[in-house]
Amino acid sequence: MMLSDYKEIRDMVSKFADSEVGPIAADIDKNGEIPSSLVAKLGENGFLGSYIPEEYGGAGMDYTAYSIIVEEISRACGSTGVLVSAHTSLCVYPILAFGNEDQKKQYLPKLATGEHIGCFCLSEPNAGSDAGSLTTFAEDKGDYYEITGTKNFITNGKEANIAIVFAKTTKTPNHKGISAFIVETDSEGFEVMKLEDKLGIKGSSTAQIALDKVRVPKENLLGTYEKGFRVAMGTLDGGRIGIASQALGIAEAAFRYAKKYSTERIQFGKPLSDLQAIQFMLADMSTKIAASRLLIWEASRLKDEGASYSLASAQAKLFAAESAMWVTTKAIQVCGGNGYTREYPVERYFRDAKITEIYEGTSEVQRIVIAANELKNIQ
Ligand code: CAA
Repeated sequence: MMLSDYKEIRDMVSKFADSEVGPIAADIDKNGEIPSSLVAKLGENGFLGSYIPEEYGGAGMDYTAYSIIVEEISRACGSTGVLVSAHTSLCVYPILAFGNEDQKKQYLPKLATGEHIGCFCLSEPNAGSDAGSLTTFAEDKGDYYEITGTKNFITNGKEANIAIVFAKTTKTPNHKGISAFIVETDSEGFEVMKLEDKLGIKGSSTAQIALDKVRVPKENLLGTYEKGFRVAMGTLDGGRIGIASQALGIAEAAFRYAKKYSTERIQFGKPLSDLQAIQFMLADMSTKIAASRLLIWEASRLKDEGASYSLASAQAKLFAAESAMWVTTKAIQVCGGNGYTREYPVERYFRDAKITEIYEGTSEVQRIVIAANELKNIQ
C-alpha cells in the first residue's frame, strides 16, 4: 500500500469516528456497553476485517492501515478501539498466521464482517505476566480435546463467538506443554463467570471465563502441538502495535481537546494558550504524540515487510502507552478544575489511557522484551 492509500484510509476512518463513534463515546463510558448497532457498523465498513485478505472476505489492507484504523477509532472512543484491536490482533491474526487453510476458510469470513467477534484467552488468575505458568488443561480424548480451566481479563469476552484458547496438553511448570486452540464460545461448558468493573475502557467487556470440560475437535488445534506459547508470543508482538495505536488515539484526543480549550479559556486577561507554562505542556504533548506515531509506523512497516518486529512493537507500545498516560494527565492539568469533572471528556481519556500500560504486556514486560532483544545484539 502507498502513502496516499494510508491518507485516504485515515480520512475515511476519521469521518466515521467523528460521526458515528465520538458522539456516543460518553454514553458508552457511562453505560458500560458498546451498542451492537455500532459493532455492526464497524463490520459493514470493513474495520473488523481490515487485515483479512479479500479471498477470505476481508478488506485486504495491511497492518499499517489497521494501526491507523485503531488509532482513529480510539481517538473517538478507547473502548471501541480495543474491541477492534483485540478482535483483529488477537483472534484474526493468529488464525491467519498459524491456521491451516480449512481453519482460515471456516473462521475468517465471519470474523471479517463482524458477524463473529473474537477474543484471546491466555491470562489466568495465577498466570498474568508469567503467561507460561498457565494451568488450563486440554485432555486428549481421542477424537477431541476436553479443555478445563479459568481465564481472566478477557477483552471482548462477553461478545466473542470465537476464542483463541491456550491450554497445557502436558502438565509442565513452564511454557513447554502449551498448545493453542480455536474454540467456539457457544460450546457446552464455555461460560462467562464475571464481568470486571474497571477504571476505564468501561464500554469494553473484560470477562472471567470458565471452561468446564469444553469439547474441542482435534482439527481446531491452532499451529503446532505444544508450540502454543510461540503462537501466543507471536500474536502479542502484533497485538502490542494495536494497543500502541489505541494509546496514540487516546493521547491525540486529549491533546486536541486541551489545545482548543487553552485558546478559549481566559485567565489573567488572556487565553491560557498565551502563557508559556501552557505552551510548554502543549509542545511536549505534541512531541510525544509524533514520536509514538513514528514508532508505531516503523513497527507496522517491519511487520508488513515480513521483517522481525518484536523489538519495534515492544518499543512502540511502551512509548505510546507511557506517553498517553503523560499526555492525558497534562490535558487535565491544562483544563484545571473543569478537566477533573465528568462534564469534560479529558478525565475519560485519562482513565482509558491507564490500561494501555497494563494489557497485552505491562510496561515492565515491554522493557523485558526490549532488553532481551538488545542484549542479543552486542557489536
Ligand atoms: N515470538 C515467538 N516466540 C517467542 C517470542 C516471540 N516474540 N518470544 C519468546 N518466544 C518463545 C521463545 O523462543 C521460547 O520458545 P522455546 O522454548 O520453544 O525456544 C519461549 O517463547 C519462551 O521464551 P522466554 O523464555 O523468553 O519466555 P518467558 O517465560 O521468560 O516469558 C515474557 C517472557 C516476555 C515475560 C512473556 O511471558 C510475556 O510476554 N508475558 C506477558 C504476557 C502478556 O502479554 N499477556 C497479555 C495477555 S492478553 C491481554 O492482555 C488480554 C486481552 O484480552 C487484551
